[in-house]
Amino acid sequence: MNSDVPYEKLVSLKMSEEEIQHPHGAQKYYKFVLLVPTLLLVVMLFQTLLLPPRLHTHNPVCSDSCRLVLVESIPEGLDFNSSTINPSIYQAWLNLIGEAQSSLDISSFYWTLTNKDTHTHEPTANQGENILAELTRLSKKESGVSVRIAVSTPGESQPEEDIIILKNAGADVRKVNMRELTTGVLHTKFWVVDKKHVYIGSANMDWRSLTQVKELGAVVYNCSCLAEDLEKIFEAYWYLGEAGKSIPSHWPASFSTSYNKDTPMELPLNGTSSRAYLSSSPPSLCADGRTQDLQAILSVIQDAHQFVYIAVMNYLPAMEFSYPKRYWSDIDTQLRRVAYERRVRVRLLISCWGSSQPAMFPFLRSLASVHDPKSKLDIQVKLFIVPANPRQKEIPYARVNHNKYMVTDKVAYIGTSNWSGDYFVNTAGSALVVNQTSAQSTEPTVQEQLQAVFERDWDSSYSSPVNQHTDFKSLC
Ligand SMILES: *[C@@H]1O[C@H](CO)[C@@H](O)[C@H](O)[C@H]1NC(C)=O
Ligand SMILES: *[C@@H]1O[C@H](CO)[C@@H](O)[C@H](O)[C@H]1NC(C)=O
Ligand SMILES: *[C@@H]1O[C@H](CO)[C@@H](O)[C@H](O)[C@H]1NC(C)=O
Ligand SMILES: *[C@@H]1O[C@H](CO)[C@@H](O)[C@H](O)[C@H]1NC(C)=O
Ligand SMILES: *[C@@H]1O[C@H](CO)[C@@H](O)[C@H](O)[C@H]1NC(C)=O
Repeated sequence: MNSDVPYEKLVSLKMSEEEIQHPHGAQKYYKFVLLVPTLLLVVMLFQTLLLPPRLHTHNPVCSDSCRLVLVESIPEGLDFNSSTINPSIYQAWLNLIGEAQSSLDISSFYWTLTNKDTHTHEPTANQGENILAELTRLSKKESGVSVRIAVSTPGESQPEEDIIILKNAGADVRKVNMRELTTGVLHTKFWVVDKKHVYIGSANMDWRSLTQVKELGAVVYNCSCLAEDLEKIFEAYWYLGEAGKSIPSHWPASFSTSYNKDTPMELPLNGTSSRAYLSSSPPSLCADGRTQDLQAILSVIQDAHQFVYIAVMNYLPAMEFSYPKRYWSDIDTQLRRVAYERRVRVRLLISCWGSSQPAMFPFLRSLASVHDPKSKLDIQVKLFIVPANPRQKEIPYARVNHNKYMVTDKVAYIGTSNWSGDYFVNTAGSALVVNQTSAQSTEPTVQEQLQAVFERDWDSSYSSPVNQHTDFKSLC
C-alpha cells in the first residue's frame, strides 16, 4: 500500500473494503469506533465531577538538590549536656551572606543589631554588629547584589539606625505599615538569597537573637522551588510597602501559588523525598492557593497520630492586643480535641520571663489539667526559663526562649508567630511545613531532628512542669 496515505485515509479505505465484503462486520466496526470515545468521555466526566480537584493540579516534582539545616541560637551560659547540637543562626546568616551573588531579600520586624541600638555595652553584641557590617558591605553597588529589606513601620521610640545605615549603603528599604493596613505588625522573619536559598525562623534582626535569646530556624540551601515560593510572600510585603498601597481585595495571579497543605511541593530534602509548603498570615495577605498559617497549624495537629510537641514563647487563647477583650480558642480547642478523641500526647513548652502576660498562666494551668492516665488524657505543659546572671539581667528584653515551632510524629512546623489570636488574624507571619511521612531515609529526617531539639529542652533542667500549685510569680 502507498505509504503516503495518511492513517485516517487508510482506516476509511480499509473500512470501505470491509463494508463491501462484510457489511455486518462494518456495522460492528462502527459501533466499536463510536463506543471508545463515548466511554472516554464518560470516564472524563466522572473524573471532573467526582474526584477532588487536587488530582487535577499536578505540581511538577522539584528537581533541586535541596538541603535543610536546622539552626539555633543558644543563649550564652546555657548548657544542655546533650548531643543534640545544631549550627548557629549567626553562622547560617554569614553563610547566606557569603553565598549571595545577585539578590538578598529580608523580611523583618525591627532592627537592633548593635549595642548602640539597645543602649548597652555588651561584648556579646559583636555577632549582631558583624552581621550589620556584612549586610552593609553587601548593600553597596560594588557587591553586585541587590539588597531589599521589608520592615514593619517602626514605632516612634524604635531605633532606625540600622535601616538608615543599610539604606545609605545602597539597600532598598520599604516600611510596611501593617498597623494601618490590618491593625497588626509585620512580624515575619525570613531571608531569600539569589531566589535559591532561604532562612526562616524565630530570630529577629536583633543582636540579642544571636547570643542572648533562644531561637530556632531552618535554612534551606540550593532550593529554587521553595525560594521562589517564599519570594511571592516577600513580594506581597514589598507591594504593600509602597506609598499609598492598600491590600488588594484579590491578589493578582503573580502572587498565587499551587503549593499548599492539599498539594504540597514535592522535593528532595537531603536526598529524602519530602513534601513541603509555606503558610502565611493574616488571611488578607494570602493570595490564591496559599494556606493560611492558622489552617496549617490546625491541620498539622489534626494529622498527628501519637504526639504533638509545641515550643512557643507565648500561648494565649485570646486576642492579646484587642480591646474590648476577645476570647480566641481555635488552637486550644484543637489540642483538647485530639487529646480527647484520639489520645494524642500533647506537650507545650512555653516561655516564662519578666514580660510574660499574667493571663497566660491560668489558661496553661487549664490545659495542663487535661491529664488523667486512667482516661488516657495526656496534655502536659512546662515553662522554659533562661537563667540570667546579674550582668545578663541588665540586657533589656533578653534571656528568653523565643522558639516558635511544633513537631508531631509526622510533621515539622517552623514558624515566626507567637501563638495568640492576633498573630493569625491581623499580624503578618509565615511558616515552613515539612512532611516526610513514609520517607525512606538513612539520614535523620527534619521531623526527627526537631523532635530531638524539643526533647532536649523538655528534659533539661531549664524546664519546670505546670500544675495546680505552680507559683508563676516566683518562677518567672
Ligand atoms: C551529662 O549527662 C551524662 C549522661 O546523661 C551524665 O552522666 C552527666 O552527669 C551529666 N553531666 C552534667 C554536668 O549534668
Ligand atoms: C549547593 O550547590 C552547589 C553547587 O552544586 C554546591 O557547591 C554547594 O555545596 C551546595 N550547598 C549545599 C549547602 O549543599
Ligand atoms: C503528610 O503527608 C501524608 C502523605 O502524603 C499525608 O497523608 C498527610 O496528610 C500529610 N500531613 C500533613 C499535616 O500535611
Ligand atoms: C511575641 O510576644 C511578645 C510578648 O507579648 C511580644 O513582646 C513580642 O513583640 C511578640 N513578638 C515577637 C518578637 O516574638
Ligand atoms: C542536611 O544536610 C546538611 C549539610 O550536609 C546537614 O548539616 C543537615 O543536618 C542535614 N539535615 C537533615 C535534616 O538531615
